[in-house]
Amino acid sequence: MASEKTLRQLADENDLTLGASITADAFRKYPDDPDVAQTLTREFNAVTTGNALKMGPLRPDRNTYDFEDADAIVNLGVANDLLVRGHTLVWHNQTPGWFYPWDYTDDQLRTFLRDHIHTVAGRYREKVDVWDVVNEAVADDGTMRETAWYDAMGEEYIDLAFQWANEVAPEADLFYNDYGIDEINEKADGVYALLERLIDRGVPIDGVGLQMHAFRAQEYVDPEALGENIRRFKDLGLDVHVTEMDVAYDRENVPENHLEHQAQYYRDILEACLDNGCDTLVTWGVHDTASWLRNYDQTITDDPLLFDEDFDPKPAYFAIKDLLESRV
Ligand code: XIL
Repeated sequence: MASEKTLRQLADENDLTLGASITADAFRKYPDDPDVAQTLTREFNAVTTGNALKMGPLRPDRNTYDFEDADAIVNLGVANDLLVRGHTLVWHNQTPGWFYPWDYTDDQLRTFLRDHIHTVAGRYREKVDVWDVVNEAVADDGTMRETAWYDAMGEEYIDLAFQWANEVAPEADLFYNDYGIDEINEKADGVYALLERLIDRGVPIDGVGLQMHAFRAQEYVDPEALGENIRRFKDLGLDVHVTEMDVAYDRENVPENHLEHQAQYYRDILEACLDNGCDTLVTWGVHDTASWLRNYDQTITDDPLLFDEDFDPKPAYFAIKDLLESRV
């Protein structure tokens, strides 16, 4: 029998952190839809700051911060008792327009990054529970990605980012986050080796985030392979979270009832997660209308989330609910 409970209640009962990212746009852009905040706070117990804490939106110029959007999301989370995940302090994408043209010295960049992390992580010290400190620092072949940060500081920028975050937000859990590392492969091996080095050097890192953008879901990571990968990261002493899940299909090869396939996929991934000691799953958005896949890649489907355009729960929602119900 279908449960009267919300997904949030069932997540709580399973000690599962079940989150969704939202953009501040969502508050402004869909004023006629049922409120995104309402669905988020009813059905999830965690929120990730979609774009608002990325350097681009946050830093209109080199000496200024615009915290308006970030504050809106963080305060919504705090007011509704959601776990708040800050995303992200260091990334090579979504930098401000002035950033790459800036003719900095290596020292200036280092100082800039330290101030950025101290200011941002410090501001939310009481409010952000988990930080994606560094995002996507490893290339697809497993080598270090050659970003502006890496060019100026070498691999040490990662150590420093975690240390700086830890200095001002000692209570927060600090994560490394990346895509395409959901199963054991060349890139995941590179990340594993990096995290091992960080731990050896005493860097204050608590965990690794597997983004889980499951495009072309029929061929994407299967639950067993995910479980194996989670276990090896856990053996390093790290927490493992699924941080940005969405489930999409090649438009040329969409299964007949793709919403049912999607439901089963979400359920299987969550089950593998829970069975292997990963206690957090975050979807990259609440409802399909706000999915980044609406603009990102026209070759894949763009209804990857748990709620449809009207904020009605989809089969994936009920599949997850059913799984959690069975484990209470
Ligand atoms: C995406 C956002 O959802 C889009 O709105 C933005 O235009 C691009 O970035 N990995 C990440 C996220 O870590 O920050 C990305 O978010 C999706 C891929």
